[in-house]
Amino acid sequence: MAKPPIVFVLNGPNLNMLGLRQPKVYGRTTLADVEALCRRRAEELGLAVDFRQTNHEGELVGWIQEARKAAAGIVINAGAYTHTSVAILDALYSAEKPVIEVHVSNVFRRESFRHHSYVSPASTGVIVGCGPLGYALALEALADQIRGARRKAR
Ligand code: DQA
Repeated sequence: MAKPPIVFVLNGPNLNMLGLRQPKVYGRTTLADVEALCRRRAEELGLAVDFRQTNHEGELVGWIQEARKAAAGIVINAGAYTHTSVAILDALYSAEKPVIEVHVSNVFRRESFRHHSYVSPASTGVIVGCGPLGYALALEALADQIRGARRKAR
């Protein structure tokens, strides 16, 4: 049997605080719960997940660069770097992979500085405001896009 495609699920700053930070905004689900949800859904979809979190912008850039060779696609919640990081935008462009951007909260109902994303222009899809379920939806979209890319390559 062919090996399942590897997808990177990358989380940026403060997402390690999920479950504790601003529960009215982000809920009570922890990042460990999100990881377990991703692993369950990925298995159903025939994907293998490499799940990571960092509070450092450069580390996130390095992981996106790594994905160019090591991953079939990327799910990314870049946290606050979404709204500030041209470096992450450039890295995503050079990855040349399907990318699904995820936000747990509905950033469009929040402060206006959260309405702009440097991740979106390099993303093939965006899922916002669906809570932790957004990660599972992102994996489903990514699986579909990876299958589509493979069909085209044949
Ligand atoms: C977030 C939204 C960002 O604006 C914020 O800085 C985060 C989390 C979300 O998942 O809703 O850290 O990406």
